[in-house]
Amino acid sequence: MLADKYHERIQQIFAKYPDRRSAVMPLLYLAQEEYGWITPEAAEEIAKLCEIDRTQVNSIAGFYTMFRESPKGKYWLHVCTDLPCALRGADKFYQDLLDYLKVEDGGTTDDKLFTVEHVMCLAACDRAPMLQCNFHYHENLDIDKVKALIAQWRAEAASEAKAPAR
Ligand code: FES
Repeated sequence: MLADKYHERIQQIFAKYPDRRSAVMPLLYLAQEEYGWITPEAAEEIAKLCEIDRTQVNSIAGFYTMFRESPKGKYWLHVCTDLPCALRGADKFYQDLLDYLKVEDGGTTDDKLFTVEHVMCLAACDRAPMLQCNFHYHENLDIDKVKALIAQWRAEAASEAKAPAR
């Protein structure tokens, strides 16, 4: 339970807002940090903590693309394919990326490292093709540049996997 593990932090979050319901988003971030995604149990707990209906929590989590409503890969890639980016080749870039990683739109690689999704405008329209990886932007990409990034992320994940547990 978030409330048991993060009692003090949750109280600090509530102290920043005029009422409990306003703290939904920071609590969703906390749940995502803890579980990797917004589990149904976490959504239920947040609803109780914020004294609102579970449907309201789900609607907020569903509206914002930064919340994970299902388990995702370690690297969550968002490619903008909205019109301005499409005019700069984002559609082909996205398809090339899906083909390279051998996943469908919204899919996760077999090794669970990469989930790839297309999204609407990320406010980097003049720097397309672009992608967001775990909320960090990479811009003016082409398939070779993204292959290099993927190699780097794979190496990073392998190195973390080898590191002794603390
Ligand atoms: S349309 Fe793609 S970042 Fe704006």
